[in-house]
Amino acid sequence: MTTASTRGPLERVVVLIPTYNERENLPLVVQRVRLSVPSVDILVLDDNSPDGTGEIADALAAADPQVHVMHRAGKQGLGAAYKAGFAWAIERDYDAAVEMDADGSHQPEQLPALLAAAEDADLVIGSRWIKGGSVVNWPAHRKVISIGGNIYVKAMLGLPVNDATGGYRVYRTSALQAMDLDSVSSAGYGFQVDMTRALVAAGLKAVEVPIEFIERLIGESKMSQDIVKEAFVNVGKQGVAHRRRQLAGLARRVVARRQEGTWHSE
Ligand code: GDD
Ligand code: MN
Repeated sequence: MTTASTRGPLERVVVLIPTYNERENLPLVVQRVRLSVPSVDILVLDDNSPDGTGEIADALAAADPQVHVMHRAGKQGLGAAYKAGFAWAIERDYDAAVEMDADGSHQPEQLPALLAAAEDADLVIGSRWIKGGSVVNWPAHRKVISIGGNIYVKAMLGLPVNDATGGYRVYRTSALQAMDLDSVSSAGYGFQVDMTRALVAAGLKAVEVPIEFIERLIGESKMSQDIVKEAFVNVGKQGVAHRRRQLAGLARRVVARRQEGTWHSE
């Protein structure tokens, strides 16, 4: 279970911002983060965007010592970028790593509320699907995928959260070190579900804070059918394993109780 050492104020925080073709969005989000929470550092994780986002990130970093860039070889998915960012944060002794989209959907102005909740949790999820949470400007099919996806995740994995696919998060680095990151395999957005599963499996505490998610105004979503399919298949596999473990546990308890019963009646 969690220890007291994983709780308390966060002193050093880094906001991880993965980018793939976000040249117009990146300067805006970086500026908003710096204004909203001036103490936090920023690490841009760019997958060699063809539109030149990497060079824009370099210019931002050159102008501000609190902004850093990791250039990655090519498009390897959100999960791979974040894993590299987690390792970077752990190496540099940050207390927490924040996940934030570059396109303005995750409002930097809501970060203080997420950081406050992280004083008493290992993971804070900015949640669209709890009281006070909302989505602005999403087409109906995206709502269906997200709500349906979360119902599916709950049925399969029984996670104690309503927005397991949400990508606006705060992780304590102590939690990232305590959980089994190698068991997290999804490369795409299923990564978020997988991380939540692995964190809860390690006995760590996840909480949700309502957010308003605003669909991007500039550029395109990288969500694809393959990404949804990967998430669906992985959650399904883990769901079967999870329910199998639950059944085995139940069977063990029934057998134990039977044996106890026989013992007493003899
Ligand atoms: N480095 C890198 N590599 N960044 C990526 C990649 C990649 O392969 N794919 C996407 N990104 C970046 C985008 O540039 C953006 O900053 C962020 O990841 C989110 O990508 P979007 O394409 O804008 O995601 P979305 O709006 O469709 O999806 C949102 O909802 C998902 C489902 O709830 C995001 O909030 C996801 O995090 C969330 O899982
Ligand atoms: Mn987006």
